[in-house]
Amino acid sequence: MPISIADTPAWQALAQHAESLRPRHLRELFADDATRFARFSLETDGLLFDYSKQRVDAQTIALLANLAREADVRGWSERMFAGEPVNTSERRPALHTALRSSAATLSVAGEDVMPAIRSSRAQMRGFCDAVRSGRLRGYSGEPIRAIVNIGIGGSDLGPRMATAALAAFAHPSLRIHYVSNLDAADLAPVLEDLDPRSTLFIVTSKTFTTLETMTNAHSARDWLLTAAGDDADAAMAQQFAAVTANAGEALRFGIAAGMLFEFSEWVGGRFSLWSPVGLPLALAIGMDAFEQMLAGAERMDRHFREAPTERNLPLLMALIGIWNIDFLGAWNLSISPYSQSLRWLPDYLQQLDMESNGKSLKPDGTPVGVHTAPVLWGGAGSNTQHAYFQLLHQGGWLIPSDFIACAQSDYPLSGHHDKLLANCLAQAEALAFGSSNHDPLRACPGNQPSSTLLLPRLTPFTLGQLVAAYEHKICAQAAIWGINPFDQWGVELGKSLAARLLPALEAGAPLDADASTAGLADWLRRRGRPA
Ligand code: F6P
Repeated sequence: MPISIADTPAWQALAQHAESLRPRHLRELFADDATRFARFSLETDGLLFDYSKQRVDAQTIALLANLAREADVRGWSERMFAGEPVNTSERRPALHTALRSSAATLSVAGEDVMPAIRSSRAQMRGFCDAVRSGRLRGYSGEPIRAIVNIGIGGSDLGPRMATAALAAFAHPSLRIHYVSNLDAADLAPVLEDLDPRSTLFIVTSKTFTTLETMTNAHSARDWLLTAAGDDADAAMAQQFAAVTANAGEALRFGIAAGMLFEFSEWVGGRFSLWSPVGLPLALAIGMDAFEQMLAGAERMDRHFREAPTERNLPLLMALIGIWNIDFLGAWNLSISPYSQSLRWLPDYLQQLDMESNGKSLKPDGTPVGVHTAPVLWGGAGSNTQHAYFQLLHQGGWLIPSDFIACAQSDYPLSGHHDKLLANCLAQAEALAFGSSNHDPLRACPGNQPSSTLLLPRLTPFTLGQLVAAYEHKICAQAAIWGINPFDQWGVELGKSLAARLLPALEAGAPLDADASTAGLADWLRRRGRPA
């Protein structure tokens, strides 16, 4: 029984193959094969995925497909879809796929989970209709005009990203704000612009104990109840909702039972967009559109389960990612949506990828033995061309990119979209092929790999497809590396150290810490209080 995926024959065959492919330039790979685009691209349900600018050949793909077989990615993902406890450290399933399923039944440990999922969707629909139609009112009888989602990480980034992505589909007179940071500079300016009589707060937190979220929720509650005065009870009952897996804590906070949107422990925070965590998004675009997004994701689920490896978009993304990281030594991944609407996608994928796969031990505590998640970052093009793309072109690092673009724009201003698309294609071309120049300072070496994902248009359905594709990519990589993508023990240490430091900062309590931390805390304490 091999102890690491690196010990398998499939991995070793790839390592050997990489020796011969590593020196080859994308220019040569394209020159050798006029059919390269046709061979290394695929279209599924309207999405085009072009990976011909990756540093792969037919043998690479065949060997990577062997790796997927050897690691039994399909077996692992079928166990996930079936609700088996693939989240081994927390001993529970990871059933984000059930949240977007249209199946009549799904039995998990003898219990059908679909009735609860359907009734949760119905509850969301009723609430969305009440808010969007103006039926749900604030304490003074004003219709709701602003919604503030208070959450962080997976309780913020998914709906934040999707609300921006689907702004063209949003209700014209509802403003959705997202507040996540502990820094008062996040919440305070939002509150300054809001009218307490027409503002609805949604506290989104799986645990309902997260420091940032609870601190912001308490400040928002104080702001609302102070403004409401004698109507404070009505304000609390009508203008505070909660989305959580911890109903008890939410009720203790003062959330009315009818304003409570529960989801199960088996929904991972960063995979929770499809659950009631998507409530602020559903309020923005309406429940019909939200369900179209679920349908798009479900369509991608089916593609992932059914398509052969060589035609399987998420699986190819996963395998190419592993090829780049572990065989070409590219530890970064740049996400480049040429879409202002997708400006939050890199942040969303940063959590999805780095919190899921940023691990070096397998569940049994043994080392993975190879590199795992990439350092993922990015931003919306074409802005990024005028910021960090210089480094991609001439910085000397090997940094693969994912380019994402839409054939049609949601906005009718003429003279913009074709220029945007031209820039997207030009960057991928320049990165791949570079340019020679008699002046070496102007020459670009090229050979930077990229994939391009094209959507016909950014709609709820295509967004669902896109996000589900990345989810499956990341889970397939986890299956190959042999890690659990559904826990995040590493983030706990900082949380407990912050709790220990707080009394020193707040009240100058003695601090048992290293000299640097103690010195910094002391400096801040002395300068952080008015003299
Ligand atoms: O600290 C990490 C984390 O647990 C994320 O995984 C999660 O998305 C985020 O905090 C927020 O957690 P919660 O939804 O419980 O407030």
